[in-house]
Amino acid sequence: MWISIIPCEKSPRVARVFKTGEVLLERTEKKITVHSTDETVRLGKRLGASLNAGDLIALVGELGSGKTWFTKGVALGIGVHPKTVVSSPSFALVNEYYGKCPLYHMDVFRLDSPDDFFSSGLEEYLTFEGVVIMEWADRFAPLLPHHRIWVEFSITGEHSREILFSGSHPRAVEVLVSL
Ligand SMILES: Nc1ncnc2c1ncn2[C@@H]1O[C@H](COP(=O)(O)OP(=O)(O)OP(=O)(O)O)[C@@H](O)[C@H]1O
Ligand SMILES: [Mg+2]
Repeated sequence: MWISIIPCEKSPRVARVFKTGEVLLERTEKKITVHSTDETVRLGKRLGASLNAGDLIALVGELGSGKTWFTKGVALGIGVHPKTVVSSPSFALVNEYYGKCPLYHMDVFRLDSPDDFFSSGLEEYLTFEGVVIMEWADRFAPLLPHHRIWVEFSITGEHSREILFSGSHPRAVEVLVSL
């Protein structure tokens, strides 16, 4: 597993302060290359172990890039029983798993518009006491809260994937720095 950290300051500077008092820091990024599904699962598990209820993981990447395999690891890291089958929620839109807190696994590939997102009820999950992990999250980026942690997958070979983590919210930065 190769890890390269792209300018990631120990104390990122404040980039934006909203009227609500919410603060965004300079974007922190971490890029990790994996060479097998096992490594992808291990990386997801490492991220999952550092997550708490309220965190939001926004997955981006083409079909078959590894978003669901990564989610299997996140579920393990959250403490979901290893024998639980974590599969793509393409048709159900959301699958729920239970570890140290609930894990809501969404796939918004089939939703066409923000109206679909609201009418499907998925928006409510963003307020639940659990971790949300969303495949194809870039489709609805403006609807997602700022504390989202982006995880972007690029296919770089038959078994290799480049995975770019990024975030600007203090909570996202905290998670990324410890990854
Ligand atoms: N390093 C790797 N990490 C993850 N998947 C890999 C890797 N190498 C090969 N693969 C293969 O790529 C595919 C990834 O499938 P997965 O369902 O995780 O993709 P996905 O991004 O969730 O796709 P979709 O957008 O259709 O939901 C699987 O067939 C898996 O075996
Ligand atoms: Mg998937």
